[in-house]
Amino acid sequence: MEKMTLNFGENLDNIKKKIEKMREDILKYNQYYYTNNESLISDVEYDNLIKELKELEEEYPQFKNVESPTEKVGATNLRESKFQKVTHKKPMLSLSNTYNEGEIGDFIERVRKLIPEDKELKYALELKLDGLSISVQYEKGKLVRGVTRGDGAIGEDVTENIMEITTIPHELSEPLDLEVRGEIVLPLSNFLKLNEKRMEAGEEVFANPRNAASGTLRQIDSSIIKERGLDSYFYFLVDAEKYGVKTHSESIKFLEKLGFKTTGVCEVLESASKLKKRIDYWEKEKENLDYETDGMVIKVDELELWNILGNTTKSPRWAIAYKFPAKQVTTTMLGVTWQVGRTGKVTPVAELEEVLLSGSKVKRASLHNFHEIERKDIRIGDKVFIEKAAEIIPQVVKSIKEFRDGSEIQIVEPTECPVCQSPVAREEGQVDIKCTNPNCPGKIKGRIEYFVSRDAMNISGFGSKMVEKMLELGFIKNAGDIYNLKSHEEELVKIEKMGKRSVEKLLESIEESKKRDYSKVLYALGIPFIGKYSGKLLANASGNIDKLMNMSIEELIEIDGVGDKGAKAVYDFFRDSENLQLIEVLRGYGLQFAQEVKEEQSSEERIFEGKTFLFTGTLKNFKREEIKEEIEKLGGKNLSAVSKNLDYLIIGEKAGSKLKKAQELGTVKILTEDEFLEICGKK
Ligand code: IVH
Repeated sequence: MEKMTLNFGENLDNIKKKIEKMREDILKYNQYYYTNNESLISDVEYDNLIKELKELEEEYPQFKNVESPTEKVGATNLRESKFQKVTHKKPMLSLSNTYNEGEIGDFIERVRKLIPEDKELKYALELKLDGLSISVQYEKGKLVRGVTRGDGAIGEDVTENIMEITTIPHELSEPLDLEVRGEIVLPLSNFLKLNEKRMEAGEEVFANPRNAASGTLRQIDSSIIKERGLDSYFYFLVDAEKYGVKTHSESIKFLEKLGFKTTGVCEVLESASKLKKRIDYWEKEKENLDYETDGMVIKVDELELWNILGNTTKSPRWAIAYKFPAKQVTTTMLGVTWQVGRTGKVTPVAELEEVLLSGSKVKRASLHNFHEIERKDIRIGDKVFIEKAAEIIPQVVKSIKEFRDGSEIQIVEPTECPVCQSPVAREEGQVDIKCTNPNCPGKIKGRIEYFVSRDAMNISGFGSKMVEKMLELGFIKNAGDIYNLKSHEEELVKIEKMGKRSVEKLLESIEESKKRDYSKVLYALGIPFIGKYSGKLLANASGNIDKLMNMSIEELIEIDGVGDKGAKAVYDFFRDSENLQLIEVLRGYGLQFAQEVKEEQSSEERIFEGKTFLFTGTLKNFKREEIKEEIEKLGGKNLSAVSKNLDYLIIGEKAGSKLKKAQELGTVKILTEDEFLEICGKK
């Protein structure tokens, strides 16, 4: 790769100014992060900024300053914290990082030089959890205090909040005085659910699980902790030798015995090559975990050697963190396409030179909105970084200005809709622009795609291309017309590539969709701010659509989890004559507009409370979505991969690698579909 050069002009004054500006920016980002739980820039951009500042400070030591954010572990703005400050008995250090597997050998060599030659060396390899670190203290086996890392010397007292994390034991299996350190994380499955809920309530979503965990732990109302499902993993026992253990790996076993949760990964290995092999293994395997890991930690195993090796001011010499390569690549911006969604929102999508990103080919990425394009100064022709966040579509992170040659083209915000050419408008205080034409074909297409999508009416064989074709032929103008497609059967068969059988299948799937629950129908209608989750809440609270239509805004706001914006959107939706007409047409076709009003489920009914499930192979009695719903209805949680956190794997026909993996793990209970039905009381 071409080497990027720092080009700030020769003037020392300019360099000083640049350094000061960088420090100021970092402090601003920190402050936002710790007071508003909001990231103004991506994690990678933040890390790069710190790295760049460090390099400048090293190159120009005359501008070094103890107040610089690079001099502080964690760089927390404690002054802004609403929690009581506590000085750590022993500072909570950081780990020195490497991004290069080759440097693991250098670390081993450095260690070797510092300890007696005849000593046999072994290393413990662990996962590096990407959450926030915590120190927890026990007196006579009882949990007495929890403190965040803060700036490494002083942290925040969050005792009340950690009491709500179910995996942190309140009482140990032995009455000991001790301090343990570990990581608070928000499991990925909970993170996705939380963001979904926030999106539906019109609230800002969390950028990643770490931000969400950090924001959650800092809530004043501690009941939110349990509700969101924070979790903990421990990896460090302070003064471990006091408890009769000789190695770090033994101390981890000891922690497990006392009742702490660990990742279960602490492999003792003796050479750089073995470490690298296992790191490569975990780099792939980490995708199957329900929490985020951003690397591996290598620790000298023998505790006696820790004393010999000691610490630098910031980190111990007996450990190093290897960071996995970021899920980021560079590519070139070829152009921008402006898309119109079902709400009329006009959003920019980057057209890119195709690249491989975390195993999949990518040639389009989100640019969010015009404000983001301006803020990041992204131009057509730019080299850009793109990244993939957990289960989120790729996005353009930043442009690399150093590669510019002057031929780049500035992106302009459209003044008219890219589909129907009507004027666009921006609502007061909003960043998005919207098409003003209520009958814009782009909006109609978006609404129909949404209506037939998997989480809504789940009509198979009705992808984006098909929707386009049907609109083009004039067979459908709104969602109601889908149920009249039967009358076009003959013409459909004649459509290129359709054929008799696929038309029959499509029509069957349309018929079948009439059975979808009332909550799904509510979701499918596409009311702004009403997603999967709030669709269910509205359905449960109203019981039928006539009741829902007649609810006042105040009554709608009362529904727990719906929020002000959602309530207003529902109210307005039912005051639009076109929407009411559509509902009557759908009702006429026999869609579900009522359900039994559900009482709070008793604990007896939530037989799967706290248990996790995954299914694999072909199931006879359920579709994918149906079995997931059944599990959730009974209090269980669906996972997406086999891991140590999985309790049950339900197997259908032709179960393959997931079954093999579960058998290898040995901790997962395997159920046939019939056994599952029996437990649910359906057989
Ligand atoms: S050991 C003195 N082990 O990484 C070092 N840290 O960059 C004690 N972390 O502050 C920490 N996984 O928040 C250790 N297996 C692991 C870890 C781990 C994640 C975090 C921790 C630490 C940071 C350092």
